[in-house]
Amino acid sequence: MVRVWDSFVRAFHWSLALSFAIAWLSAQSWEALHDWAGYAAGALVLARVVWGFLGAPYARFAQFVRSPRTVIAYLKAIATGSEARFLGHNPAGGAMIVALLIAMAATATTGWMLTTDALWGATWAQRLHSVVAHGLLLLVLGHLAGVALASMRHRENLVRAMIFGDKRAPESGDVA
Ligand code: HEM
Ligand code: HEM
Repeated sequence: MVRVWDSFVRAFHWSLALSFAIAWLSAQSWEALHDWAGYAAGALVLARVVWGFLGAPYARFAQFVRSPRTVIAYLKAIATGSEARFLGHNPAGGAMIVALLIAMAATATTGWMLTTDALWGATWAQRLHSVVAHGLLLLVLGHLAGVALASMRHRENLVRAMIFGDKRAPESGDVA
């Protein structure tokens, strides 16, 4: 086994998932909790962006953010069942992470906008926050589907890896 996800990434990941779940479930029932969970998610994303430049090798954007062409080629390889196993994030997973971070930041920002004097009670702003939050939910569902698919295809428990940090050492054909 080799260490892939450092403790910051793991703590960040599960805190973000928890904040998202709390914000989602409290959206219509408990405003104070909703707002704090949303701000926590926003702060976590900011911290993750800093870590994406300074953090451990597999946490860096330069390690896992790849060109659209590479992402499309990887999606095609998935369709034909020939995609390589990556020790870090695969190209499609990397693209999803960027999308999740941007959508999470946009949701927190549009939520905060609702608390400003200028936009208090503005219907269009409420609708915008709702649309962005629902788009984020779709991305999260896509993320879970991607994790399940990659776990099955490469016969490894990726959820366990995101909890404990270790993955099976690279074999021939894998991308480390
Ligand atoms: C609910 C909201 C969730 C959000 C917003 C989210 C977001 C993210 C992000 C940003 C990453 C990149 C981690 C990093 O490098 O910092 C990631 C990776 C990952 N997430 Fe989530 N996640 C969520 C829920 C979950 C859940 C519920 C599971 C498992 C059941 C899960 C499993 C994973 C796994 C296994 C990875 C690593 C993927 C890989 O091996 O490349 N996530 N997630
Ligand atoms: C990133 C995390 C967040 C998520 C996932 C989220 C999600 C949601 C959802 C699903 C709704 C219900 C929208 C609807 O009626 O369809 C909502 C409403 C609301 N959110 Fe958020 N939100 C987040 C962050 C925030 C933040 C940071 C604030 C402000 C501090 C905020 C303030 C509000 C307010 C005031 C409403 C009620 C709007 C209304 O009157 O319709 N949210 N949010």
